Amino acid sequence: MGVDIEQFNPHNQAALRAWWEVGHAATADRPGKPWPLWEQSRVALPTPNPERGVTLVAAIDGREMVGAGLVIRTLKENLHTAMAFAYVRPDRTREGIGRRLVEELEVIAAGDGRTTIQSEAYLPPGGSGTGPELFARALGYEVASRESIKELTLADFVARRDALAASAPVPEGYRVITFDTVCPEDHLASFGRLLGMLMSEVPLGELDLQASEWTPERIREAEQRQVSVGRHLLTAMAIAPDGSVAGVSDLRVDDSDPAYGQIGITIVDPAHRGRRLGLVLKTATHDLAVATWPGLVSVDTSNAEVNTWMNAVNEALGYRTIETLLELQKKL
Ligand SMILES: CC(C)(COP(=O)(O)OP(=O)(O)OC[C@H]1O[C@@H](n2cnc3c(N)ncnc32)[C@H](O)[C@@H]1OP(=O)(O)O)[C@@H](O)C(=O)NCCC(=O)NCCS
Repeated sequence: MGVDIEQFNPHNQAALRAWWEVGHAATADRPGKPWPLWEQSRVALPTPNPERGVTLVAAIDGREMVGAGLVIRTLKENLHTAMAFAYVRPDRTREGIGRRLVEELEVIAAGDGRTTIQSEAYLPPGGSGTGPELFARALGYEVASRESIKELTLADFVARRDALAASAPVPEGYRVITFDTVCPEDHLASFGRLLGMLMSEVPLGELDLQASEWTPERIREAEQRQVSVGRHLLTAMAIAPDGSVAGVSDLRVDDSDPAYGQIGITIVDPAHRGRRLGLVLKTATHDLAVATWPGLVSVDTSNAEVNTWMNAVNEALGYRTIETLLELQKKL
């Protein structure tokens, strides 16, 4: 077959644009915002990230790009894992291009010592047996966790907001602070301690992921990368009576797309649970988002279906399930 699989440099903007077009076309039938705007990809993909290494791959037929692939390797933790994603232009599916892309992505990951490859497949809510799922199984990937993708229309949040705030007051003795991306110095070490708990506290199903350490330096570097790509992490932090960080939640908006936001992380320290801090924090980030970005239309998030508590918070805020996400995994 005349299709070549090649890596390319993300600074090659013509290639990057063609790659983006393939992913855009391959995800066009999905609800919500399944693919970034060109401006988001143009800025983020070539900008170095201290947390993640990204390799881009193209399937090229003559002078046309017909398939796009991406390997993401975490650089600070889980050095045994990589994430691999493949997209084939809708008019060129079922020709074996997806399979060749994934084989190349696995070679790249293995070349870097990664032995567990993770990926994602999206289906209509509660669905099964769709193309991407069968494709993943054909390539030896297993379902490690089922998640729901949820979307919130900000107008729905605004309509519920006052009732929510009344039902979840800030607990006595606690304080909530908010900031854009850069954590106040006073709370940095305690924030790092909480971030270190994330992998062991978030339901991961069978996903082979381990916790790691978040030093103040690591947090500062990650923040600077967000600033450099124009990404705002609107963050709410609960401060416990003893001054430690009891919980944190963030909502992300890019300068280049002020209409769509995404939930980042949410975690409440097990020692401080049962006080509705999850709802308090999320209400605070959504308030901040509405105030900062009046044009914001919707926000999306994903949670494990088994994460009853987080799902209840999201439902209270007005989130609705739009897709099922299968977290996939293959051990090489
Ligand atoms: C999923 C996707 C990458 C498949 O690309 P593709 O080039 O059509 O895949 P291939 O032709 O290499 O298929 C390999 C095998 O996967 C299975 N498969 C792929 N698509 C399938 C479908 N729609 N229905 C049933 N089986 C399918 C088959 O077993 C196929 O082998 P066969 O054609 O010999 O039966 C493509 O449909 C796509 O871009 N979808 C949108 C993005 C996405 O969901 N990516 C996957 C998650 S990262």
